[in-house]
Amino acid sequence: MSKGGAGKGGPGGAGRSGPGGAGGSGSAKGPGGGQRMMHVRVKTAAKRTSSSQRWLARQLNDPYVVASKRDGLRSRAAYKLKEIDDKYQLLKPGLRVVDLGAAPGGWSQIAADRVKSLGADPERGVPERGGQVVAIDYLGVEPLPGVTIVEMDFTAPEAEDRLKGLLRDGHADIVLSDMAAPTVGHTRTDHLRIIGLAETAAHFACDVLTPGGAFLCKVFQGGTERDLLDHLKRNFAVVRHIKPPASRADSAELYVLATGFRGEQEQQR
Ligand SMILES: C[S@@+](CC[C@H](N)C(=O)[O-])C[C@H]1O[C@@H](n2cnc3c(N)ncnc32)[C@H](O)[C@@H]1O
Repeated sequence: MSKGGAGKGGPGGAGRSGPGGAGGSGSAKGPGGGQRMMHVRVKTAAKRTSSSQRWLARQLNDPYVVASKRDGLRSRAAYKLKEIDDKYQLLKPGLRVVDLGAAPGGWSQIAADRVKSLGADPERGVPERGGQVVAIDYLGVEPLPGVTIVEMDFTAPEAEDRLKGLLRDGHADIVLSDMAAPTVGHTRTDHLRIIGLAETAAHFACDVLTPGGAFLCKVFQGGTERDLLDHLKRNFAVVRHIKPPASRADSAELYVLATGFRGEQEQQR
């Protein structure tokens, strides 16, 4: 399978049928399709701290990490979107998708495959039809077939207009956000930064989405902040929290999925 290819069958074959051919909606079998994985033991090395040794052992024995390498996907996170989409069927051919916080590109690979994105040709500008994926991150993302990449801080004042300018008709059908700011270790500060990113993403989504559109965003355990949740409930028909199987059980990570955008942003907050 071609690495990062977005052709038929998807990036590394990670289309609807899933890595390892497991298929289905985030099947409990996991990414290996129920096959047993050989446990890898990590030898101690003089230069390795015990925490880096634990991290390495976890990576080597994580079936999603193994599957992402096998399937040519850039992140284990790709399976979170895959599992959510297998269940909720958000990504359909021809849709326009914005991927916020896209590096290294796993979600964009899944999205580009499923919306059959043709990408923007710099010579011809924004395509007149077909699926589209526009991705942004302040970290560089290696080029991906079918994905228009913007290297910029999403919270920069010009970022939203830049993204809109790359979308056909200036609108999107789906806004994805897996953004996570690096933690500073101060719980209150870290919490506020996460909520701040999610709120900015939600307001952008309400600005750019077409009626019926969807917004999927990383939040953290304890669910979405009251203000943000109220805002989403006013603007979308259905709002739910999701913990996909690929999201580590010991992580506080959670996703909020808002579907059925009502069409006009309700400003009252
Ligand atoms: C968990 S990673 C995303 C992984 C990605 N979904 C994938 O599958 O490859 C979170 C990303 O959010 C990005 N990020 C955080 N804050 C951002 C901001 N203000 N603007 C743009 N990107 C941001 C980080 O640089 C990081 O690459």
